[in-house]
Amino acid sequence: MKKVLSGIQPSGRLTLGNYIGAMRNFVELQHQAECFFMVVDLHAITVPQEPAALREQSEAVAALFIAAGIDPAKANVFMQSHVRAHAELGWLLTTLSYMGELERMTQFKDKSAGKDAIGAGLFVYPSLMAADILLYNADLVPVGDDQKQHLELTRDLAGRFNHRFGETFTIPEPYIPKVGARIMSLDDASKKMSKSNPNQGSFIALLDTPDVIRKKISRAVTDSGREVRFDTAEKPEVSNLISIYAQCSGLTVAEVEARYEGQGYGPFKKDLAEQVVGVLEPIQQRYNDIRASGEIGKLLKEGAEKASAVADATLRQVKERMGFLLP
Ligand code: TYM
Repeated sequence: MKKVLSGIQPSGRLTLGNYIGAMRNFVELQHQAECFFMVVDLHAITVPQEPAALREQSEAVAALFIAAGIDPAKANVFMQSHVRAHAELGWLLTTLSYMGELERMTQFKDKSAGKDAIGAGLFVYPSLMAADILLYNADLVPVGDDQKQHLELTRDLAGRFNHRFGETFTIPEPYIPKVGARIMSLDDASKKMSKSNPNQGSFIALLDTPDVIRKKISRAVTDSGREVRFDTAEKPEVSNLISIYAQCSGLTVAEVEARYEGQGYGPFKKDLAEQVVGVLEPIQQRYNDIRASGEIGKLLKEGAEKASAVADATLRQVKERMGFLLP
């Protein structure tokens, strides 16, 4: 059985981009593979987090995993910090990482641009991400397009370790959706939709109310003209909205174009809002039920126990191969 691992940071509110680019595939893959889905709190603290907000967001993301359709009886859902092997293998892989390759990471460049003080954790973020994946010998890693480069580095680190210390790690493959791997901002289609954007209108949060969603979509920037046509070069804003429509409705891009031929942006945006509400409303209802049930702590504890058993065995093997004196 194939192994799948992925993670989402509990930093700010999750967006429709996180859902379409990653989480939906988590739900799909749980039926075909042994899955490990984490809330990556150790990654979140690579930028400053307010403690109370971090705690709340961590539980919220775990609840959203379940609300989105991940079945904890099928997939392991856990907090990264509950499985100590992540921090430990992260360090071991940091010692195998080169400054040059870490400096080339676009996420590091974006997050550190214009800052006077750049946290060292932000720099070694990809080594920790590699540890997350390699601890479980994951074959597939469902992520959005922006994580492709980190996956490449993970593959390089796995290969480097295997070469130096003997075959140990599976070389993982990214699992990236064909449409929706990069959902863009509603106010600027040259930027990806992001929970850290200070403009609330630029993203749809998974927990936005239906009215807020309708308002944000009606205000979404559109290109000049009125044709609902997918063309990322000529019509980047509308193409982004078509991608979202296709992903939320289950239609292909061509079917969406055909449905709105000759109708202009108005009816398209109105229906798009209803498609998004149709996907998010049931998730929100389940989310509220799960939070109210108080079950999340127990689920996370069970998930961490199962994950630890796998991760600890890998870590022991890694340390043995590297020459550590084992207890
Ligand atoms: P994070 O928390 O930034 O994002 C979680 C997932 O959502 C995807 N995503 C998007 N997809 C499409 N369009 C968007 N606008 C969009 N925004 C975000 C991301 O690609 C990601 O898949 N480094 C990871 C977390 C991580 C991880 C891992 C992932 C830590 N360890 C191990 C996989 C395996 C991150 O920053 O995700």
